[in-house]
Amino acid sequence: MGPKIILTGSTGKLGSAVLKNLLELVPPSDIIASVYNPSGHQDLKDKGIELRKGDFNDPKSLVSTFKGGDKLMLVSLPSRDDDYRIRAQTAAIDAAKKAGVKHIYYTSLNFADGSQAKVMKAHFATEDYLKASGVDYTIIREGGYMDSYSIYLGFWNSSLDKVTVPGDGPVSFADRNELGEATAKLLVTDEFKNRTVTLSGARAYTLKETTEILSTILKKDIQFEKVSEQEFIEKNAAIRDVAEWWASTYPSLEKGEGGMVDDTLERLLGRTPRRFEEMLRYTLKEDPAADKEMKEWTSH
Ligand SMILES: NC(=O)c1ccc[n+]([C@@H]2O[C@H](COP(=O)([O-])OP(=O)(O)OC[C@H]3O[C@@H](n4cnc5c(N)ncnc54)[C@H](OP(=O)(O)O)[C@@H]3O)[C@@H](O)[C@H]2O)c1
Repeated sequence: MGPKIILTGSTGKLGSAVLKNLLELVPPSDIIASVYNPSGHQDLKDKGIELRKGDFNDPKSLVSTFKGGDKLMLVSLPSRDDDYRIRAQTAAIDAAKKAGVKHIYYTSLNFADGSQAKVMKAHFATEDYLKASGVDYTIIREGGYMDSYSIYLGFWNSSLDKVTVPGDGPVSFADRNELGEATAKLLVTDEFKNRTVTLSGARAYTLKETTEILSTILKKDIQFEKVSEQEFIEKNAAIRDVAEWWASTYPSLEKGEGGMVDDTLERLLGRTPRRFEEMLRYTLKEDPAADKEMKEWTSH
């Protein structure tokens, strides 16, 4: 029997990809899935995975959820309420420490240290808290999810002839399934203990470049327009609170803070990561996943 690995978020898109790939690497008896409601998920039980109730809104209960685990994968919570996110994630770290977990992996986002993008506030706070916790850690800074590209493009959708954003810069987009595959590999090695690891796509794309690729795929001229932050917010007045929060990402992108490229993902996968153009072609022609992603994301 190897170390017991506890996964949070394994009913979500990233976490389910981690779980699927982890099952190729360790026996199911080495995995515990922490889920909101353990009464469902028969598919996971059928695989022989132990399910435990784990609600981040009830941090005290997480001590028993995490008991017996050696490693914990803490998937960042999907919320734009930064204070809630920080409170819940740091409380989960405390609970894991109390439960005797020896190594915590945290899924962060690939923006440079010091970025003022609001999306990084809870990530940086959680990273700092984890590093100071005394528990071994691995911080995984993930490239922007490829199927979140429409969010980066200022909530663009394929019915629009123009991308309107308050700034431009490179984003090292990565495929969520490949991030799951690589994260599973990170969980079974100690190579990245007490390190921050960047998992990015093989290259970064500016938003203007992305718009040009979309124009080619859709065979229509999609304009790229840079506007002021205020104009951006007014344009997205129907989702004003989301737009105000997200607008702070663009000055950071302009400084190149979302575009760091690293070959660790490629190394862990043992192949070239999926190309962004290929994903866009697939999404726009075969699958409305990006629209779905944007609707889910803006509703958190
Ligand atoms: N890199 C990027 O571009 C990017 C883009 C979008 C999001 N993200 C971040 O990456 C994370 C993973 O993405 P994803 O696509 O896998 O998200 P997702 O599909 O929304 O999954 C989120 C997971 O968190 C669980 N969860 C939410 N609130 C919880 C709570 N209070 N207690 C316990 N579990 C809770 C959900 O459980 P249930 O299924 O039971 O609700 C789900 O398993 C997100 O949470 C977000 O922080 C990154």
